[in-house]
Amino acid sequence: MELNTIKCMDCLEYLKTLPDNSVDLVVTDPPYNVSQKANIKYGNLNIVKNFGEWDFGFDPEPVMAELKRVLKPKGQIFVFCSTEQIPQYMAIFKQNWFFRNLLVWCKTNPAPRLSKTNFVFANEYILYAINDPETKPGQVTFNFQGHKEMHNTLITSALQGKERLRDENHKAVHPTQKPLSILRKLIEIASNRGDIVLDPFMGVGSTAVACKETGRNFLGCDLDKIYHAISLKRI
Ligand SMILES: C[S@@+](CC[C@H](N)C(=O)[O-])C[C@H]1O[C@@H](n2cnc3c(N)ncnc32)[C@H](O)[C@@H]1O
Repeated sequence: MELNTIKCMDCLEYLKTLPDNSVDLVVTDPPYNVSQKANIKYGNLNIVKNFGEWDFGFDPEPVMAELKRVLKPKGQIFVFCSTEQIPQYMAIFKQNWFFRNLLVWCKTNPAPRLSKTNFVFANEYILYAINDPETKPGQVTFNFQGHKEMHNTLITSALQGKERLRDENHKAVHPTQKPLSILRKLIEIASNRGDIVLDPFMGVGSTAVACKETGRNFLGCDLDKIYHAISLKRI
């Protein structure tokens, strides 16, 4: 297993190269299947609704089966997901994982609802589980950070400022880049320094950067050549 590298390949092909029971923690942000075919123009604003082909028709089942195989029995997983994916992931977790919690990432600066015909989507979700359903809660790595820090609501802005990677035209290079503050927190709670953290949907490498910053080993992949090249440069 080549640690501290990101491969440019399909996640299922990549996961097949990893041995059973070899990973301590999975922190991953798979496609949400929320893209629409066309972006929306609103005055001067161009609102990105189509993230790319990768955000259509993603099926979590085969990936979750492989993640279960490569995780150690007492290994843990955090999976980011959209509202509509929650039942699908819950069905998988209830089958043969030990489901632990649903974290809500509450964004203080969500994209506006231009149509004004529904509530503004301000939340994303992170499902948290332990691999082996027979595990007792006290048997896994869980670095409790103090009651105020351990709410299952994580409140931050969606990425802006210097952390948001932009091209020469000031356009965000990845439509769904995740904040390092959230990734670091999940990694610090559910793993120890030197542990191996896997993300098979690396995008522009946010999980890898969070691992470097917290002294964990990382490994993972992304299918997209441009995101992959940016992730290598970033780490
Ligand atoms: C939600 S984004 C992850 C963004 C990442 N958390 C970040 O901060 O940059 C999902 C990523 O999965 C990648 N992807 C989609 N299908 C894939 C597949 N079958 N194998 C590997 N990567 C895939 C996409 O290219 C995209 O970058």
